[in-house]
Amino acid sequence: AKGAAMVTAVAARVQAQRKVIDEVLALFQLTREHLVSVKNKMRSEMEYGLKKETQPLATVKMLPTYVCAMPDGTEKGKYLALDLGGTNFRVLLVKIRSGRRSVRMYNKIFAIPLEIMQGTGEELFDHIVQCIADFLDYMGIKGASKLPLGFTFSFPCKQNCLDKGILVEWTKGFKATDCEGEDVVDMLREAIKRRNEFELDVVAVLNDTVGTMMTCAYEDPACEIGLIAGTGSNVCYMEEMRNIELVEGDEGIMCINTEWGGFGDNGCLDEIRTQYDVEVDEGSLNPGKQRYEKMTSGMYLGEIVRQILIDLTKHGLLFRGQISERLRTRGIFETKFLSQIESDRLALLQVRRILQQLGLDSTCEDSIVVKEVCGAVSRRAAQLCGAGLAAIVEKRREDRGLERLAITVGVDGTLYKLHPHFSRILRETVHALAPRCDVTFMLSEDGSGKGAALITAVAKRLHLKKDH
Ligand code: GLC
Repeated sequence: AKGAAMVTAVAARVQAQRKVIDEVLALFQLTREHLVSVKNKMRSEMEYGLKKETQPLATVKMLPTYVCAMPDGTEKGKYLALDLGGTNFRVLLVKIRSGRRSVRMYNKIFAIPLEIMQGTGEELFDHIVQCIADFLDYMGIKGASKLPLGFTFSFPCKQNCLDKGILVEWTKGFKATDCEGEDVVDMLREAIKRRNEFELDVVAVLNDTVGTMMTCAYEDPACEIGLIAGTGSNVCYMEEMRNIELVEGDEGIMCINTEWGGFGDNGCLDEIRTQYDVEVDEGSLNPGKQRYEKMTSGMYLGEIVRQILIDLTKHGLLFRGQISERLRTRGIFETKFLSQIESDRLALLQVRRILQQLGLDSTCEDSIVVKEVCGAVSRRAAQLCGAGLAAIVEKRREDRGLERLAITVGVDGTLYKLHPHFSRILRETVHALAPRCDVTFMLSEDGSGKGAALITAVAKRLHLKKDH
């Protein structure tokens, strides 16, 4: 009888624990009503960003990019491209051959040490130019002619032409001083001058979303949207000029960098934000900013997971109630670990092994819970991202006065590409929330580099036309 009582007591405890875990997971479950409301709010925040009066206070900044023309296949030549702001910093040489729509690329990845990301602006740009010098040496083209360069700079920039970009504020892991409010093209040109070793013709500065859209539009003219679901989260799309109050003229279309990561910074997502989201935000480099990005992108999903695990451990529900040093360490759950943990083919034993690699000593039950937590967090991220995207495709459909719209979204980013479920849930959500749009998702191969070269090439082509 004593044995039976003990079994019942253990069962009761397990049940009570399960209840707490389920309650935490439930905080991450969004209903259709929630998602429709996110879509509607995104739509109105976008409208604020487009209007002159409300733009200065808008959380979704809707920045004009001065990219108005898509590649038409006649672009050609050799270009340098820089890609700063994603998982890696890269320098690329891109050769575009006209007619065949084929592009050859050579690239080199460089590390940007933390102390440079968060040092002074001058140090950051000197480092960038040092990397360019290395690359030119490596390719054996340092003495060559003044190459045209496209600079993919994946942060919010105010532009009033293609080759000027004033950094509004740093996002993600960057925080170099003396850059906000400055023109990053100027900073790059200055650094090239300081080094005094080679000359470059900086033609364009662009967001990674724009490069991604351009790269896909090169192959599919129905591509009017660029999405990044990676370290950060952002979208650009082609907007009617008549709707862009900040830019003169009503004819044609222009690409808008939405900077939708800032969605929710006015509190409009508070209803669905959890205490874990608040903790992640408060512990970040930019508290109060980029709240939607912090719920949807690779740089933060692992942090949300970590906060939940800490909380469950505090309640004695995980890791034998011991909060290890590792678990206290910021940034341990990178996208690639989350992706591995959630892979369906992975046996629980392997989940335990991954946790072990991270220095987390887990039981079999622990690993089940960890996997569930990861699933809840990434699922919500994909759904939120899908709700945002649904707002954009619907806007395009309405603006073009169509019953149905077929549209292609160019996509890049580690979360979209590596995660086993993110892309599917994202697509399902868009489909459910924008049923009158047929949305095709096209993976971009190296959008930031190729796109920078294409935009530079289009600019050169249009210039040549103008000069004649
Ligand atoms: C951040 C940046 C944005 C970029 C995105 C994806 O949200 O602010 O400019 O496009 O990350 O890299």
